[in-house]
Amino acid sequence: MPFYYQLGKIPAKRHIQYRKPDGNLYAEELISTEGFSSLYSLVYHCHPPTLVKDIGTPYPFAPKAAIEKNLQNRSFLTFNSKPHDDYLSSRTYLLFNSDLYISSAAPKKSMTDYFFKNADADEVIFIHEGAGTLKTVYGQIQFEYGDYLVIPRGTIYQMHFNNENNRLFIVESFSPIRPPKRYLNQYGQFLEHSPYCERDIKLPQNLETNDAEGDFKVMIKKQDMIYPYTYATHPFDAIGWDGFQYPFGFSIHNYEPITGRVHMPPPIHQTFEGHNFVICSFVPRLFDYHPLSVPAPYNHSNVDSDEILYYVDGDFMSRKHVERGMISLHPKGIPHGPHPGTVEKSLGAKETKELAVMIDPFYPLKITEEAMKMEDPGYYKSWVE
Ligand SMILES: [Fe+2]
Repeated sequence: MPFYYQLGKIPAKRHIQYRKPDGNLYAEELISTEGFSSLYSLVYHCHPPTLVKDIGTPYPFAPKAAIEKNLQNRSFLTFNSKPHDDYLSSRTYLLFNSDLYISSAAPKKSMTDYFFKNADADEVIFIHEGAGTLKTVYGQIQFEYGDYLVIPRGTIYQMHFNNENNRLFIVESFSPIRPPKRYLNQYGQFLEHSPYCERDIKLPQNLETNDAEGDFKVMIKKQDMIYPYTYATHPFDAIGWDGFQYPFGFSIHNYEPITGRVHMPPPIHQTFEGHNFVICSFVPRLFDYHPLSVPAPYNHSNVDSDEILYYVDGDFMSRKHVERGMISLHPKGIPHGPHPGTVEKSLGAKETKELAVMIDPFYPLKITEEAMKMEDPGYYKSWVE
């Protein structure tokens, strides 16, 4: 996140002796990005973060493509996937390219016997159903329905759920996830026209210093493999940290919509960006107020990106037969638009309650075997009455 934050106790200067009450040194760790050229944080551990006791047998954890090349409008019903007890096993890869992996997950159990670290990708976890606590070395973030959790790569974390009914929509980004540059001034502060700002960001809280020794399993994901590591000390052993590199939360319900007299284009919904893709939030809002406005979107050919829409809640004025957890995939190369009858129906409407997450990747998405099991095969014909 592009602003400075500090939690717990830290020494007066960086890289100086910092001692525990018993006289031993804390172990300073620099967590830096893009070499030493971008955001970083300094974490002060009770124990060095290097105490590896054992490495288990790595195993593959990768999306498998059923369709490598796609030129067909499609939809997938992600709520058709069965819940799993385990957090990692519940992750179902759906769509992917070299910039991002998109998955859904319905984990039932909290992570109590292992930790997870994605060494390759920043993760954006959208909480569609469920609530709980994200635990990290930086502190804890309480999450609930509608939250985006943004977890930078390299962050060891655990998800603790309040109950077994959880539905997550996950983006793994191989580039840093950031707020759009146009929302920020030259110093990194959110500008007045931005649909959200610093006060809307959920920062890590309740730093717990777990000064425990034993066997601590950390599943590390790198290059489509999971490496089971066993460390000799608890990963969440920080006494304090500061910097710009840390996980945060943001509720889609705090996204302030931008409206106009006539239909506003998708960039007004933009929430985050990565390299070669954007993430947008469609939230309840007043409709366009020109006397002759057409609230339903126009047909459009977005010639430079695929478009996926993940339907969260509410009534979708431009589509029929929409279910919660449904994904539509509209690939570049062909236009898409409102379903028959929905344009006339939208005339005179004052507001929409729709809630959705949109991802526009600039390179085509491959479709996984798991996604094809959830496909609505007739979707591409749904514009013909
Ligand atoms: Fe679209």
